This record gives sequence, C-alpha cells and structure tokens, in this order.
Amino acid sequence: MSLRLGDTAPNFTIDSTAGQINFHDWAGDSWVFFFSHPADFTPVCTTEMGRTAQLAKEFEARDVKPLGLSTDTVEEHVKWIEDVNDTQNCDLQFPIVADADHKVAELYEMIHAGESETAAVRSVFIIDPNKKIRLTMTYPMAVGRNFDEILRVIDALQTSDANNCALPADWRKGDDVIIPPSISNEEAKGLFPNGWNEIRPYLRTTKL
Ligand code: BEZ
Repeated sequence: MSLRLGDTAPNFTIDSTAGQINFHDWAGDSWVFFFSHPADFTPVCTTEMGRTAQLAKEFEARDVKPLGLSTDTVEEHVKWIEDVNDTQNCDLQFPIVADADHKVAELYEMIHAGESETAAVRSVFIIDPNKKIRLTMTYPMAVGRNFDEILRVIDALQTSDANNCALPADWRKGDDVIIPPSISNEEAKGLFPNGWNEIRPYLRTTKL
C-alpha cells in the first residue's frame, strides 16, 4: 500500500549516525525533511549531503530537521561524512539512518526495482509536526535534487497552513497568495484584511 499525502508517516526505530533513533520521538514537534540516497561514497549523493549540511541554518529557521537514509552501515556513513565535509566545505550534523536490511526503505517504498534492487532512489518526504506526510518527491539515481525547491515547498506548506491560503505556480516567499475557492468573499474579508484582486471569481489573489 503506497504512502499518500495526509497519511501518518510510519514510525520506525533504527541505527543512525546519531545512535539508535525512534523516528517519531526524534522528530518531536518539528517538521522533517526525510530523504534517501542510493549509496555512500558516490558523487551525486556527496553533493546532496553537502548541500543539506550547508543549508542547516535555512532548515533550522523553518523548524525542519533533515534526516538522511541509505542502505549503507553506520560505519560507512561515518567515514563518508568526513569526505562530504572535506569535499563540500560543510559540517554535516544531521543524522543519517543506516538501513542495511532495507527495513525502512521498504516501509517508505524507497527501493524502485527498475533503478536498483538494493539501493534507494532519491525519495523526499516532507513531514509536518503532526507526523503527516505533506509532500513526496522521487528523483532517479542519476539526478540530484533541487534544494531551492525543497526550501520553497516547505515555505509554501507553512505559509498555507498559517494563513488559510494556496500558492500559485512558482510562488516564492513574499509573493501574492491565492484565496482558495472554498473561502467565500464574506469569510475572506475577515481572513485577508488587505483585500484582494479578483481576476475571476475562482481566482482571487492577495498580499499577506
Ligand atoms: C551518485 O550519487 O552519483 C549515484 C549513485 C548511484 C547511482 C548513480 C549515481
């Protein structure tokens, strides 16, 4: 059964570079950027781990905890982190799960047999403080993720939650937002004191 948006992110207990973690306890009341990579000591993965480490302050500002995963062991992760720090000029502090027996990768459907029978693809799960899965993305082994998009979509989810609004294509923090059609004009007057631009009755934009 596939994991769907709105599902509770399955819990697990597993070894990581930060010791054994129980996922739900570790996440606490924070958002989580849970992402898998195919293998340690591989080039694309090294750049992705480095980018995540370089963006530590950006994740922290959004109350997001990154959590990596691959089917390598803790010992391999620990050795590789030295290389990541060395080559990507960073100080990687977030935990990386060691899923050598594929338990979590299977739970989260991170192994796609068309890409590899044993290694995870580049899955992304954005999980909110209620442990709900809010966004999933899957990238192939050969293509690194776009971290601007990962931060953008976290901003979008958090803005939508806080303001009862929706976000247009290519929205970035500070841009106008959309008043969802489920909100009547009468209700919108209370929720969006800046008024709105009614392009169509179903397409109303406003500034927050
Ligand atoms: C990489 O990280 O470069 C990589 C890993 C597995 C397959 C292809 C590329």
